[in-house]
Formats: sequence, C-alpha cells, structure tokens
Amino acid sequence: MRILILGTGGMANQHAKHFAAIEGVTLVGGVDVDPARVEAFNAAHNIERGFGSLDAALAWGEFDAVANVTPDSIHYPTTMTALKAGKHVFCEKPLATDHTKAMEMTETAERLGLINMVNLTYRNVAQLQKAREIVQSGQVGKVKHFEASYLQSWLVSKAWGDWRTESQWLWRLSKKHGSNGVLGDIGVHILDFATYGAGSDFSNVFCRLETFEKAENNKIGEYDLDANDSFAMTAQLESGALGVVHATRWATGHFNELRLRVYGDKGAIEVQHRHDWSKLLTCLGDDIETGTWTEVDVDPVPTNYMRFVEAFRAGKNLEPSFRHATNIQKVLDLATVTERDRTEHKV
Ligand SMILES: NC(=O)c1ccc[n+]([C@@H]2O[C@H](COP(=O)([O-])OP(=O)(O)OC[C@H]3O[C@@H](n4cnc5c(N)ncnc54)[C@H](O)[C@@H]3O)[C@@H](O)[C@H]2O)c1
Repeated sequence: MRILILGTGGMANQHAKHFAAIEGVTLVGGVDVDPARVEAFNAAHNIERGFGSLDAALAWGEFDAVANVTPDSIHYPTTMTALKAGKHVFCEKPLATDHTKAMEMTETAERLGLINMVNLTYRNVAQLQKAREIVQSGQVGKVKHFEASYLQSWLVSKAWGDWRTESQWLWRLSKKHGSNGVLGDIGVHILDFATYGAGSDFSNVFCRLETFEKAENNKIGEYDLDANDSFAMTAQLESGALGVVHATRWATGHFNELRLRVYGDKGAIEVQHRHDWSKLLTCLGDDIETGTWTEVDVDPVPTNYMRFVEAFRAGKNLEPSFRHATNIQKVLDLATVTERDRTEHKV
C-alpha cells in the first residue's frame, strides 16, 4: 500500500512512524506548502518524493491513499480533492470545521466507495476498548451516570513549546485560522471517548464555552486569539444516562490526560489515559460493598493506522469512519448553539 502524507508538521511524524512500521506499507511522498518542512520531514522518514501542493502530488498520482495531517480547516478542501481523484483518505480530527462539510466529505467518500477513516487516536487505548466491552456485556448494569474530562496545560506550561511564538499553537487559538478552539481540537476526542466507553451516543447536550484573555487586545501577529479554551458540557445519552464532559488547556499539572468514569446500577468502570500510562479500574460484584477498585490487565489493540491499512486491503471501511466523525461534528456544532442560546438542545 502506497501512502502520501499531506501536511508534514508535528502530528505527521506519528503518521509516518506508525504507517512505516506496518508490513507492506510504503510512504511514497510528503506534501507541504512549506518547502523547508517537507524537505526535513522526508529526510527524517526516508521519503523519496516531496511536493508543494496536493495538486502536484495528484498530477504524479502514484499512491493509493492520503494521510491528511493538515490543519483543521484544510481537511475539507484537500480531502474532497483527494476523494474526487479516487484516493482513499485517512483524515486527522476534527474531520471538518462544521457538520455540513463533514457530511459532504462522508457522502462523497461513500458514493465513490473509498475507504474513509478519521484518526480518533484514543481508540488505540486498549483500556478504553476493554471498558466498552465490560459496559456492553452488561457487567455494570444499566448505565445511569458518566463523567469525562480531557485536560491539557499548554496555555500555562511550556513543556510542549511556547504558544505565544509558535504557529502550531497559534492557529489552534484562532477562529480565522480555522480552529474551533479546545472544543474542536480535543473536545472531539473526549466526546468520542465518553460515548464509545459508555456504549451509547448523545441525545441531548448543553455546553458552556469560555475564551480567556491571553494577550494584549487578544491578538498576536496575524492571530486573533478568539477560539474557546475551556468547555463544560452536561449531556444525556440515548441510553438515558446523564453526565458531564469537560476539557481545558489551562489544567496545570496535566499535559494530556483523559478520564472516563461510567456508573451503572450493578457496578462501575474508570479509564485513565496519560501520555505515559493508561489504566482501567473496575468496581464490580462484592467490591461494590467495600468501594474497592481493581486494575484490569488488557491486551494491546490494533491502532487506527493498522485498521486503515486493514480496511484498504479488505476493501471494506472500518471505524472510526467519516460518518461517525460527522455525527460527533453535529454535537460540536450544537455545543456552540447551546452556548449562544444558553439552553439544552436535542442532537
Ligand atoms: N489525533 C491526534 O491525537 C492529533 C494530535 C495532534 C494533532 N492532530 C491533528 O493533526 C492536524 C495537524 O496538526 P499538527 O499539530 O501537525 O499541525 P502543524 O501546524 O504542526 O502541521 C500542519 C502542517 O500542514 C501544512 N499545511 C497547511 N496547509 C497545507 C496544504 N494546503 N497542503 C499541504 N500542507 C499544508 C503546514 O504547513 C504544516 O506543516 C490537525 O488537524 C490536528 O487537529 C491530531
């Protein structure tokens, strides 16, 4: 399988590393509008061909699929171009900047019979997969309540670099640059994490968003710092469970931490995932009476990168699909509407 990496910034390194490790997969080209970036990236990953645009790469055409690792607002135009040229697409999240565009991408990919998947990375966490299995097997009983959070600290900590000077952080703070803030950036992950682990989709949501003052006139160079950096959501699932989901970039002490707690009428699970470890804890059976939590061992699961290659080889789409990401996009769009209306909406 021949893969073209589109957008050779930070996250593209993960794509290159994971795809290159799969037997039978070759990274045949890199594309970036910044020539220095694509050159350095290709050198680091042993990629032969570099291009300055997707159109130039398509004119050459010798690849099967595109790994789209461009900034959020670029996903839609480039994915549409790649699909129309008959290329399968593995796209970064969020699939698009709004539900209408995401749906158009989904319908186009499905109509053309092309593999279309989205890198909702935390599906790779074996503890989340096991948690879903436990919930779906009925071991926690009927789910009544859930609590999910995604905490990052890069607006406070410089451990990942300085957002005041680096474009890779500045575009994430600016609506004009296509960002939907923390909601679009990591909200998409935690909404997927919560519903996947709790085994049910959203039925109603109410979300508050906040954009805090960060610089003089909230502007740095060409970047207006107007995208949200904290959100807090109350939500009900189709299963009837009630819960909260929240995320922020201001969580000092938490570089990148996701947590999900699911409480049923027979037991509970908790998944914790950090950059350096993951845990699955359960409180089931007799442990309910003593409030004892037990850590569960899990086997590794295939990554999204592996599943995309598997889907290509089998000629059959796998999850997380464009359609699934489009359903999440609907909730993201609705979150903004509820912030404006200050009232709960049905999904
Ligand atoms: N799944 C995850 O866990 C995860 C983690 C980090 C980032 N991401 C996503 O990956 C994407 C890229 O993020 P990043 O941190 O690598 O950003 P980045 O800014 O470091 O890299 C983006 C690259 O795309 C290039 N680019 C812009 N427009 C282009 C175009 N039209 N054609 C080709 N290249 C173009 C830029 O020059 C840049 O090199 C974003 O959508 C982000 O949300 C996902």
